[in-house]
Amino acid sequence: MNMTMAAKNQALDDRLSKRNFDLLSKFIYDYSGIKMPLNKVTMLEGRLRRRLRVAGIASFDGYCDYLFKQGGLESEAVHLIDAVTTNKTDFFREPKHFEYMVQAALPNLLAAYADKRIRIWSSACSTGAEPYTLAMVMSEFLAASAPERDYFILATDLSTDVLQKGQRGIYQNDLLQPVPSDMMRKYVMRSSDPARQEMRITPKLRSKVGFARLNLMDDRYPVGDPMHIVFCRNVLIYFDKPTQNHVLSRLCDSLLPGGYLFVGHSETVTGFDLPIKQVANTVFQRM
Ligand SMILES: C[S@@+](CC[C@H](N)C(=O)[O-])C[C@H]1O[C@@H](n2cnc3c(N)ncnc32)[C@H](O)[C@@H]1O
Repeated sequence: MNMTMAAKNQALDDRLSKRNFDLLSKFIYDYSGIKMPLNKVTMLEGRLRRRLRVAGIASFDGYCDYLFKQGGLESEAVHLIDAVTTNKTDFFREPKHFEYMVQAALPNLLAAYADKRIRIWSSACSTGAEPYTLAMVMSEFLAASAPERDYFILATDLSTDVLQKGQRGIYQNDLLQPVPSDMMRKYVMRSSDPARQEMRITPKLRSKVGFARLNLMDDRYPVGDPMHIVFCRNVLIYFDKPTQNHVLSRLCDSLLPGGYLFVGHSETVTGFDLPIKQVANTVFQRM
């Protein structure tokens, strides 16, 4: 048996010691804000096993020694975080948000601001379904209501894996199912090879979305001019209350007065002292 196969088999049977779990859990929390309580140990093991296989490391002990005793953390942190983040996403996820945007938020913002370009930030964008959905909605809305205006979507995430996928803009056909057929025709290209069950976002739509790495745990969010709209959906659930407060305060700082904040349908912003008022279910407006 060669080294890599030996490493594979050992990693499959391996379990994380409590001490190593605690070290990893503390690092993940400090770095990303993601809570990793002991009841997630099996999930963490599963995700790390994949990483160990790729890195050719035989055991969790070996991996944790490399990270915490041999200075490996500096280069490995990115991969560790890629492995532990949950990136589930969908096109037109929580569709009521996009209806609210078109029916209320955008008409209000166009009336309040003369900016040529509407700036929107998808702040935990995962593989790009959310920012490309926003780009489709914006293209349709502006073409019909304000063709003289333009827009740009900033799409950020902590995981470098998902950012690369977003930049490529290639998705399995299944994931694109929720996209309405008229938008599919305009904004999505079929693969020239029908055997490949995937499609690609058109270059024009891709050019409206810029991907960048941003950690919501950072003290400052260097996103340029304040945004008209910020989406921060289905990431707050991974954070504890102090981290949610940290993130939400900074997101509010990144919004224009009258700008809109959208959070996930299972997320709440109550109990924080924030300069926002609720205007619809999980939609807030900056005061
Ligand atoms: C479940 S996905 C949500 C994607 C999208 N917003 C949606 O609702 O479909 C959560 C995303 O948050 C990202 N994330 C986790 N911690 C983060 C952090 N500290 N800073 C930025 N992004 C983070 C993950 O990498 C993941 O892509």
